[in-house]
Amino acid sequence: MSSSCAKLEIDDTKIELPILTGSEGERGLDISHLRERCGVITYDPGYVNTGSCQSAITYVDGDQGILRYRGIPIEQLAERSNFLETAYLLIYGKLPTQEEYDAFVRVITRHTMLHEDVKRFYDGFPRDAHPMAILSAVIGALSTFYQDSHDPTNPEQVEISIHRLIAKIPTIAAYSYKKSIGQPFVYPDNALEYCSNFLRMMFSVPAEPYEVDPRIAKVLHLLFILHADHEQNCSTSTVRLVGSSHANLFASVAAGVYALWGPRHGGANQQVIEMLERIRADRGNVRKYIELAKDRSHPFRLFGFGHRVYKHYDPRARILKQACDDILAQIGIHDPLVEIAKQIEEIALQDDFFLSRKLYPNVDFYSGILYKAIGFPVNMFTVLFAIGRLPGWIAHWREMLADPHLKIGRPRQIYIGPLCTDYTDITTR
Ligand code: CMC
Repeated sequence: MSSSCAKLEIDDTKIELPILTGSEGERGLDISHLRERCGVITYDPGYVNTGSCQSAITYVDGDQGILRYRGIPIEQLAERSNFLETAYLLIYGKLPTQEEYDAFVRVITRHTMLHEDVKRFYDGFPRDAHPMAILSAVIGALSTFYQDSHDPTNPEQVEISIHRLIAKIPTIAAYSYKKSIGQPFVYPDNALEYCSNFLRMMFSVPAEPYEVDPRIAKVLHLLFILHADHEQNCSTSTVRLVGSSHANLFASVAAGVYALWGPRHGGANQQVIEMLERIRADRGNVRKYIELAKDRSHPFRLFGFGHRVYKHYDPRARILKQACDDILAQIGIHDPLVEIAKQIEEIALQDDFFLSRKLYPNVDFYSGILYKAIGFPVNMFTVLFAIGRLPGWIAHWREMLADPHLKIGRPRQIYIGPLCTDYTDITTR
């Protein structure tokens, strides 16, 4: 990281602000001593221009549509890696050797079961509870079962929490689905690899044999890899912020799940399918919805379009669009929603409204179509995003805790409320 300086003059004070330059040339003004030296703070709603940390995990170039985990292009990982290997890469900073990989898979596999008492939580949730609410609640509740591993400064405790979380999240997710449809929970089968095990827990019933389709398991690996990290997005920043108080990993990740749930973040994948269904029910009138999205007086947005960082085609959406074509053809599914999605893309990408605002399909635009083809119900889509994003959350939480300069996250504000006023008695108000 090289540095130079910027000069700032405020009233009569002149100061120099160091400029930090990242390994890919991104420059940032270091304002960490700004207030102390000139009594001002910065104002940046939505943190559009604010770098909250230095990170060596993921590189995104939104103008060119580039995404790399630990320097490796997402396209290569999508084609050649699998989810647990990618998780290892993100968390530990390098691709594992065969021995490291085998040991990692072994330990994750060993922790797939939930404590029997966790199952009772599910009895208490309403049957129609959103599985994201259940996911976060149960992840938070894991901290009550593993009170021996709360210390974020103890490497062994952190390590076992990482293993427990990655291992148990598919089980927690599958149980929430089973609860919602009134079927018995299916215990993990540790003879199966990660995604196959998850598919079996989701879709098998004790009364019948179930065989995992390896093509489907492969697509799930692809989807999880593509979602595994995306640097300082809303949920990852949430995990970092919560973790900066030295809250344990379960608590920090539970908070991240809630942040992901929102329709402007991970919840968009559910909204995309609901939007496509709505358009189909409206006789496929795509243009009507494009016009609605352009109408500034109407709240409707084209879900799966636009991104804070990508001002170019999201590379993950490009991979998923191709996967949609390939996989749906392979498993013999013809989904009219694919045609509607493609029409939307075609029309929007010729329309000045979208072009001038650089709004392109994002990762959520095609992921839902694939989840639907696999057989996942719509309200599980964001849960799938969470399973995929977990290694990224963990990697960032771990990186942050290892930083010797870690400070609790605590933004400032510009107060615009009333000036000092006297308290008045209730009878005189
Ligand atoms: N449809 C219609 N107009 C849009 C859309 C959209 N999907 N996205 C942005 N715009 C317009 C927006 O109204 C604004 O117009 P104007 O300048 O006239 O006010 C302009 O484009 C810039 O939008 P913004 O909301 O200021 O941009 P942002 O960077 O704050 O928001 C976003 C990014 C992802 C929240 C937004 O593009 C959006 O709401 N998209 C739809 C939801 C979605 O697909 N979310 C998933 C994001 S990718 C995966 C993830 O992070 O979870």
